[in-house]
Amino acid sequence: MEILKIKKLSKKYGKKDSEILAVNNVSFNVRKGEFIAIVGPSGSGKSTLLNLLAGLDKADSGEIIINKTDICKLNDKQMTIFRRDNIGFIYQFYNLIPTLTVKENILLPTLLTNNRQDENYQKLITKLGLQAKEECLPNDLSGGQQQRVAIGRALINNPLILFADEPTGNLDSVSAKKIMDLLLHYNKNGQTIIMVTHDLNLAKKASRVITFKDGKIIKDSVKIHN
Ligand SMILES: Nc1ncnc2c1ncn2[C@@H]1O[C@H](COP(=O)(O)OP(=O)(O)OP(=O)(O)O)[C@@H](O)[C@H]1O
Ligand SMILES: [Mg+2]
Repeated sequence: MEILKIKKLSKKYGKKDSEILAVNNVSFNVRKGEFIAIVGPSGSGKSTLLNLLAGLDKADSGEIIINKTDICKLNDKQMTIFRRDNIGFIYQFYNLIPTLTVKENILLPTLLTNNRQDENYQKLITKLGLQAKEECLPNDLSGGQQQRVAIGRALINNPLILFADEPTGNLDSVSAKKIMDLLLHYNKNGQTIIMVTHDLNLAKKASRVITFKDGKIIKDSVKIHN
C-alpha cells in the first residue's frame, strides 16, 4: 500500500541570478513498511526534501500526498495538527528541550492530544533502554542516549512515517549502531522510515536506497531480500 506519493516536487532558494534548485522536479512513491535511506553528496538537497515531506518547509510546486491528504495544500494550523498525528522527526542534534526531563521530552507530543499513550510510553522507555534515566535532563545524557530520547518523542504518537536526518551523524560508531538497530527494530514492526545518511554501511541495511544529486534522484534501488 502506498502511503506517500511525491509528484513533481520542486523547491528553490535564493533570488533570480543566484537561484538554487534544491529539489528539482522529484517524483517517487513510498509503500507502507519501507525503510528508505536517502544518500548523496553534501548540498544535493536531501535535507530540503526531508523537510518538505515532513511539512517543516513549503514546496514551490508539486504534490506530497500522505494518506490521501496533499500536505502542500494545508494551512499552518492544519499542518501542525497533521504533523502531530502523522509525522515523527529525528534530527542530527537531537533538539530535545533542555529544561524537561527524559520522560517529559518523550511525552511532549501527547500534551497536544487527548491520547495519554501511557502504555506506549512504557514500551518505548523499556525498548530504548532509558528506564533508569526517566527523571534526568538531556544534558546529563550521552549523545546516543539523547538520540534514543528523540526516537521516543518521535514515536510516542505512533506516526505514519518516521523521518530522520542524519540521526547517527553526531555519534560514535557504537552508539550509531545502537540507533540503527533500534530503527531496524521499529521498521520490522511495521514502522515506515525515511532516513537521510552519509553512512553507506547504514544505508545498505535499509530496504531501499535513493541516491540524490543536484536536487534529483539519480538512483533508486529496492532490496528484494532483507
Ligand atoms: N534556507 C536556505 N536558504 C538558502 N539556501 C539553502 C537553504 N537551505 C538549503 N539551501 C541550499 O540548497 C541546497 C541543498 O541543501 P540541503 O541542505 O538540502 O543539502 P543536503 O543534501 O542536506 O546537504 P548535507 O549533506 O550537507 O546536509 C544547497 O545548495 C544549500 O546551500
Ligand atoms: Mg542535510
